[in-house]
Amino acid sequence: MLRIPLAIALLTFAGVGFAAGDATNGEKLFTTSECLSCHGTEVFTAPDRKIKDLKALDTQVRLCDSNLNTNWFDTEIHDVVAYLNQQYYKFPTPE
Ligand code: HEC
Repeated sequence: MLRIPLAIALLTFAGVGFAAGDATNGEKLFTTSECLSCHGTEVFTAPDRKIKDLKALDTQVRLCDSNLNTNWFDTEIHDVVAYLNQQYYKFPTPE
């Protein structure tokens, strides 16, 4: 009984994930950048983390990206946001 709704939910989620950014590519970008030279991944999961939603995450990744002079393209920012969200933040993604 529960299987079909679950499958639909998973498909929907995968579709949204792709539209919002490619988390697999985001992981590649993130792990090959110097992102972890100032802070570790613990800031993403700390109880007092500052980022409360996807929009704030997008803004913070852009700030950190410009600190670092990585100059990621918009699509690359979206990919990294998708990865960080999938891996750490787990905010609901917009339709
Ligand atoms: C020049 C140092 C520096 C580099 C390099 C850097 N960051 Fe940051 N990052 C910071 C500082 C400072 C904060 C704020 C920490 C705080 O608010 O306590 C921060 C916070 C963050 C947060 C929010 C954490 C929270 O509170 O939820 C995210 C997400 C983040 N950085 C992502 C990245 C990414 C992605 C990169 C690679 C593009 C990166 N950072 C590279 C300095 C840096």
